[in-house]
Amino acid sequence: MSISVHGLIKDAGGATRVTKLRRESYANASPLPDPKDHIRELADALHPAEMKFRCISVKDASPSSKTFRFESLDGHIPVFQCGQYVNFRFRIGESTLSRPYSISSAPYEARSEKPFFEVTIRRNVPYLVPDYMFENVHEGDVLDGTLPFGTFYWEPLRDSREIVALAGGSGITPFMSMAREVANGKMKGCKLTVLYGSVKSDDIVLKDELAAVEKACSDVKIVHVLSDDPDWEGEKGFISKEIIEKYSTPDCTYMFCGPRAMYLFVDKALKELGVEQRRFRHDVVNNPADITKVPGYPEEAIGKTFNITVVRGIQEDIIPAKAEESIAIAIERAGILLNTHCRNGECGLCRAHVLSGAVYTLPDEENRRRMDREMGWYHLCSAWPLSDVKVKIPIM
Ligand code: FES
Repeated sequence: MSISVHGLIKDAGGATRVTKLRRESYANASPLPDPKDHIRELADALHPAEMKFRCISVKDASPSSKTFRFESLDGHIPVFQCGQYVNFRFRIGESTLSRPYSISSAPYEARSEKPFFEVTIRRNVPYLVPDYMFENVHEGDVLDGTLPFGTFYWEPLRDSREIVALAGGSGITPFMSMAREVANGKMKGCKLTVLYGSVKSDDIVLKDELAAVEKACSDVKIVHVLSDDPDWEGEKGFISKEIIEKYSTPDCTYMFCGPRAMYLFVDKALKELGVEQRRFRHDVVNNPADITKVPGYPEEAIGKTFNITVVRGIQEDIIPAKAEESIAIAIERAGILLNTHCRNGECGLCRAHVLSGAVYTLPDEENRRRMDREMGWYHLCSAWPLSDVKVKIPIM
């Protein structure tokens, strides 16, 4: 066995050079305090509070989905990773709503000569406002928004370079971004296999774009799995344990993005395959479309409407809220501003103190801190009223 110290010597040489440069910088620095807050400036550039984005193109991504391309009017697009999302703010009637959209373009495209990012949106997704985007956002329109958000991305220090992506419906968007990044050589050494579940061939979102990336890059493989298309010659049915196993490699990282029902199905399949939790990364799991169907939901609340007293400073408003809707939705519908991003209980931005009343939360999927649970703080996007409730929210 031979041991080389060549790298160590290089490292030591590098450290000496940096130390010397630092000494010179100190010696030449002005004795006056710098009025600029460089750390703040950097933080604002990386993660601006609010930006303006102009839509520069809209094109079909499938018969029921569209891709919207945006440029920034603020001079730059903050750095983001494949899998992160942008939050747009909409004024619809009396309500101001913010909604998250996963970015389908690649990070390198936001750093190109003509920087842009894209979101691909499907119609009729109830917790978002896709139909509003479809009918009201056109080329030339300017939207308020901010990015990046989300913790669902590939991390080289933690994840394998063999990635098996499990996608359903519009959950393909983070993997479209990732496929483009891999094809552009930006995720060195990564091999991406995407198992993409759709009902029929016509439902496949970004079908042509996926095919083009797969053709251009041997490190990207796309496997369509169709559940109801008799003429389909590829994989059929759902993304089952058998299909996952067929396309897996030892110690690969699994990444999931798709509807809630599919998440529960895939999670079970991976457990049956004995995949350790550390190898399974998933995007935010959407709230159930109908909270009253969750096993254990208190039946006596079904169909009821409660009063929510919303406290902001010294102001109090009483608004109605159906048992079936989250407190955040009731607040937004009443035209009261509430900060939200993920809208599915993960980020904690809609966190607020419930002063009185009973609230329902999902039994096994709570992301609240233990202290919050004990002190009556809730994520209002994932909290449903079971009685009249009094809640204190921040003034915006
Ligand atoms: S908006 Fe993220 S937890 Fe509610």
